[in-house]
Amino acid sequence: MAANPDCPACQGAGWKHAENGGVVRCGCSGDVGPDERVRKLGLPRKFAAVGFDNFRAGTPYENAIEYNLLTGAMSAAKKFAEEYPFGPKRGLLFQGSPGVGKTHLAVAALKRLAERGFDCIFFDYQTLLQKIREGYDPAAGGSSRETYRAALETEVLLLDDLGAHRVTDWVLDTVATIINHRYNEEKALIVTTNLPVVELGHNVVLSDEIGSRPRVNDSLADRIGARAVSRLCEVCREVRIATQDYRRRR
Ligand SMILES: Nc1ncnc2c1ncn2[C@@H]1O[C@H](COP(=O)(O)OP(=O)(O)OP(=O)(O)O)[C@@H](O)[C@H]1O
Ligand SMILES: [Mg+2]
Ligand SMILES: [Zn+2]
Repeated sequence: MAANPDCPACQGAGWKHAENGGVVRCGCSGDVGPDERVRKLGLPRKFAAVGFDNFRAGTPYENAIEYNLLTGAMSAAKKFAEEYPFGPKRGLLFQGSPGVGKTHLAVAALKRLAERGFDCIFFDYQTLLQKIREGYDPAAGGSSRETYRAALETEVLLLDDLGAHRVTDWVLDTVATIINHRYNEEKALIVTTNLPVVELGHNVVLSDEIGSRPRVNDSLADRIGARAVSRLCEVCREVRIATQDYRRRR
């Protein structure tokens, strides 16, 4: 997909300036176009229609704290998606309890990046590990190995629900390899997790149920290893969504 060297819009660079000051891929490169790019993300059906425009932050009159938190999270995601690759960080780390909208915002950002012309891919963490594991089976087809390659090489990877898996040495090695490879190659990584990240100051002791004994949660490092977490914290901007489950809120 080479750009046309005589293109008046991009002068052969393949990328041109967008109205908001960012860059977008130029149509002269014979690109598949924004709609097709979004279709190829591999999004689960549930998230096919989510975006920034249907993310609701409520109003400051109903709940000012929640409103500030959600608008803050949304603008961080939007800013990343518009500025990439020129922003200060090469990734986003969404953290918060179940149902608060982490995947919603992460997918919204991924879609915007795909529209702008970047090669992007979505993987649910558990599905990705399962597919990679199948790839080691000589009887498995090439598609599983292709999956691993895509997780390593695609410019922007969204890993959804990171750490939601029991820990084995194999899992630790595989996740470390993916995160490390992407770190070295300066490829973008967007992750969501509901595990506390001790390295970012999150608390692992939960005592939210009245009268119940405090529980100690696994932290993200317990599930994916401290080295991988340290890399993640270095390359990602943290977007913490410490609010109520959206389904309960409504
Ligand atoms: N602020 C919001 N506005 C509109 N829809 C929302 C909002 N927050 C969440 N939702 C919707 O609620 C559902 C749950 O949100 P989502 O899957 O993003 O949560 P999550 O934080 O990723 O949870 P989990 O940790 O369980 O994966 C989705 O259908 C999502 O589109
Ligand atoms: Mg999610
Ligand atoms: Zn051009």
